[in-house]
Amino acid sequence: MNLSDEIQRRRTFAIISHPDAGKTTLTEKLLLYSGAIDRAGSVKGREGAGHAQSDWMEIEQERGISVTSAAMQFEYRDHVLNLLDTPGHQDFSEDTYRALTAADSVVMLLDCAKGVEEQTKKLFRVANDRGLPIFTFVNKLDRPGREPVELIDEVEELFGLRAVPMTWPIGSGPDFKGVYVRATGQIQVFERAKAGRKARVAGQGSLDDPEISALLTPDELQRLKDDVELMDHVLPAFDLEEFLAGRQSPLFFGSALNNFGIAEFLDEFLDMAPAPHARPLAAGGEVGPESPFTAFVFKVQANMNKAHRDRVAFARVVSGRFERGMDALHVRGQKSIKLNYPHMFFGRERLIVDEAFPGDILGLINPGLFRIGDVLSAAGPVEFHAVPRFSPEQFVSVRLADPGARKGFLKGVQQIAEEGVVQVFWPRGGAPLPILGAVGRLQFDVLQHRLKTEYACPVLMEPRGFQMARWIQGGWPEPSRFWGELVEDSEGRAAILFENDWQRRTTAEKNPDLTFQEHPA
Ligand code: G4P
Repeated sequence: MNLSDEIQRRRTFAIISHPDAGKTTLTEKLLLYSGAIDRAGSVKGREGAGHAQSDWMEIEQERGISVTSAAMQFEYRDHVLNLLDTPGHQDFSEDTYRALTAADSVVMLLDCAKGVEEQTKKLFRVANDRGLPIFTFVNKLDRPGREPVELIDEVEELFGLRAVPMTWPIGSGPDFKGVYVRATGQIQVFERAKAGRKARVAGQGSLDDPEISALLTPDELQRLKDDVELMDHVLPAFDLEEFLAGRQSPLFFGSALNNFGIAEFLDEFLDMAPAPHARPLAAGGEVGPESPFTAFVFKVQANMNKAHRDRVAFARVVSGRFERGMDALHVRGQKSIKLNYPHMFFGRERLIVDEAFPGDILGLINPGLFRIGDVLSAAGPVEFHAVPRFSPEQFVSVRLADPGARKGFLKGVQQIAEEGVVQVFWPRGGAPLPILGAVGRLQFDVLQHRLKTEYACPVLMEPRGFQMARWIQGGWPEPSRFWGELVEDSEGRAAILFENDWQRRTTAEKNPDLTFQEHPA
C-alpha cells in the first residue's frame, strides 16, 4: 500500500471522560469489534482477573490503576485506529492532557445520568483549544438517565458546541430498545448480550417496515416518530466542515457494557474522523503527512520493564514512512540516531514494529535521550510548536529522609521533571529545596517512588495549600502588592503560586501592568 493510502486509512484519537463514565468498557468494546481481542474484559484487570498489560509500574499494580498513557492500535473495516490512552482516574496527570497533542480527534464520553462532569470539562477545553473535532457518545442508556435534549442543551451551554444527533435512543433505562440511525433512517433493535459478547441485533430496518416496528410498542414507535420529526425540523443538520472546525459535535447514544450502538458509532466515526493531516511548524509553514519522516515525543515513560529499567519515549509520527533501523535527526540534540527497536501496542501486545505511518505512535527505547517535545526528523531540523506544559493544581514541599542526599535528589528530580512528571518551582529569595507542582496528586506518588527506587533518595512530602500557578510577564510585582508565593520555574521564568482565586484576582487587579498566564510563554 502506498504512503497516501496508509495515511488516509488512519484515525488517531483519544477518549475523554470523567472516571466511571465507561471509557475502559468502551475501549474494550472497540477492541472487541476490531477483533484485537476475542472477549472483552481484558483491557483492565477487574474482579481479581489480574492486571492488564498497561499496568507496568509497581505503583500502578498496588493501586490497580493505570498511571501511564500510551496508545493502542487496532484495525476495523480496513482502517487503522490508534487510540491514545488518557488515564481517567481522579489523579490524572499532565500526560492525560498531553495525549491530546497527539490526537487528530476526540470522543467525549458522557454518562447519560450525569451529563458533563468535571474532568470532562477540563479535557474538553484542552481538546477544543487545540481545535480538535469532538465526537460525543452518551453511554449507559440501559440505565435511567437524562433526556437526550437536556444533554444536547448542556453541551451547548457549557461548551458552545452544537451536538447534532447521528443516532437517537429508542426508550431508556430498562426500556432501552435500540437506536435510530439518522443517516440511513434505519432502526436497530438490540437484544441484551451476555457479558463480553457483541450485542445481538434483534432487528434492523426502516421505520415503516412492519416487521421492525412490531418490535416496538405502539407508544415507543409514536414517540420515536415524534422525536425524529423534532430532530429534523429543530436541530441543525450535521455539517462536516462545522465538525472539523470544532463547532459541531456528532452525537451518538448507546451502552458500552451491552454493546448497544457501538458498531453504529464506529462506522460513522471512520467516515467522519479526520485522517492525519499537516502539522504547523514553530517557524511558520507546516509539514504535510506525505513529507519525509518526522515525529514528536509527547510522553516519556520510565520503568515500564522493571528488569531493564528502561525508559520509553512515545512519539507520534507526523509525516512519512517510518522504517525500523532508519536514521533520523534528533533535532534538539543535533545528532543523527538510528531507530532500531521501536515498539507499538497492538491490542494488548507490545511488539517491535518494522514500519509506521503518520498517526501511529512509536514507543522508542530511550537511554535518557528523549524529552517531551523532542522532534525526530528525516526532513532536516524542523521544529513543531512546543508540546504545552499544563498548569499544576497540586503542590508539595519535600523533605529529605537523608539531608546529605540533596545533590542526588536534585539530579533525580530534574530528570524526572524533564519527563514531565512534576514541575519544579524555586521560591524567590532562595530555598534549599523546591516546591513541586503537578496536575494530579498521583504524580507525587510516582515521583516519591522513583526517587526511592531509582535514585536511592527517599523523601517526605508535605502538601502545600496552593491551587494554581501563573507565569508572570512584565516583571515581578511590588512586595506589598501581591498575594501568594513568588517562584521561578526550572527554566528561571517568573511565576507565582496562589492559594485561591481571590488571591489571583486581587494580585492581577493590583498589577495591571503585569500579565498572569496559565501556561508558561
Ligand atoms: P472508566 O474507565 O470510565 O472509569 O469506566 P469503566 O469502563 O471502568 O466503567 C465504570 C463502571 O460503569 C463499570 O462498573 C462498568 O461496568 C459500568 N459501565 C460501563 N458502561 C456501561 C453501560 O453501558 N451500562 C451500564 N449499566 N454500566 C456501564 P463497575 O461496577 O465499576 O465495574 P464492573 O464490576 O461492572 O466491571
